Amino acid sequence: MRVRGAIESYLDDWAETGMNWEKWMEEVDSSKREFARLVGAVTGEVSMHGSASQAINAVASSFDYSGKRNKVVVTEADFPTVVFIWKACLRLGITLEIVPVVEGEIDPASYERYVDDRTLITCIPQVYYQNGFKQDIALIAEMAHKKGSLVFVDAYQALGTEPVDVRQMDIDILVSGNLKYLLGMPGSAYLFVKQELIPRMKPTSTGWFGQENPFAFNIRDFRYAGDARRFDTGTPIVIAAYAAREGMRIINEIGVSRIKPWIDELSRYAIREIEKRGFSTTSPKDIAKKGAVTSIQVPSPQDAEAQLKKRGIIVSARGPVVRLAHHFFVTPEDIDRALDSLEEIVGLKSKG
Ligand SMILES: Cc1ncc(COP(=O)(O)O)c(C=O)c1O
Repeated sequence: MRVRGAIESYLDDWAETGMNWEKWMEEVDSSKREFARLVGAVTGEVSMHGSASQAINAVASSFDYSGKRNKVVVTEADFPTVVFIWKACLRLGITLEIVPVVEGEIDPASYERYVDDRTLITCIPQVYYQNGFKQDIALIAEMAHKKGSLVFVDAYQALGTEPVDVRQMDIDILVSGNLKYLLGMPGSAYLFVKQELIPRMKPTSTGWFGQENPFAFNIRDFRYAGDARRFDTGTPIVIAAYAAREGMRIINEIGVSRIKPWIDELSRYAIREIEKRGFSTTSPKDIAKKGAVTSIQVPSPQDAEAQLKKRGIIVSARGPVVRLAHHFFVTPEDIDRALDSLEEIVGLKSKG
């Protein structure tokens, strides 16, 4: 309701005033403030983007790859967009290495083998989108930093349910979109870049909003903004900023430290029920290694997703599984309802 109210306040204002530039920019700034609060950063380290992919493109366009340190390390647990963006950079001279997933997990020690003194940036998905496997960011960051690599974290599947502190975890760059656990709408994603790193990064993905003074309108004077505004391009997706601000405010008000134990409780319940009912999961059984995603193996995941949707239950089909994604408002009864329906669907399928 609150997020809807925020979107409606944009629409009301739009109908009344048409363009309310100052208010729009205020909303974008306050959404950045909420994001900064969520990850333990300051607002000047945060930029807003239309999608996580756009934010990652801004990052990828910011470095010079002509030197010796031109290697990018990604993982098989990365959301494909991350790997595609870096693959597109192969023609700029990067080399790319992919850390493998073995039985649904990544052994932290395997980063040791892939990250070396030629690695510019190590990309770590905090939570694996397919099965919820969670990585120890601080541990991997320490190892990557020892080798002189920057640390990039994709927190899209974690933020809002897992505590994130960019200083404690020693993260250089972090991205997340708002569509999932941050209760936002499509069209908003946020990028954190550590203040000390910002001057080193010169995005070619840029525009007038990335300039020190966007309103100077002087094409002879090109000057990046000194803070994270330099990753801005053009007019932000203002309506999505309204929704994002309110969604993140809800999470900040409740506090991830209070949400997290409930997520763990639901994970334990879901795994127990999945096994009790004869399904299997590819999610880690050890809750300490698990985020909010719980996977269930079913014969035809796309079909199961569509049939559950008809019953008002939203899951996502990803490869061989459907994915449950719990949040603070989900109850064990909701999980039961999803599993009851899934049993029926799978049962019906085997009869037909
Ligand atoms: C972990 C992760 N990273 C990146 C993305 C891509 O986000 P976007 O569509 O905003 O580019 C997703 C989308 O689901 C995701 O789950």
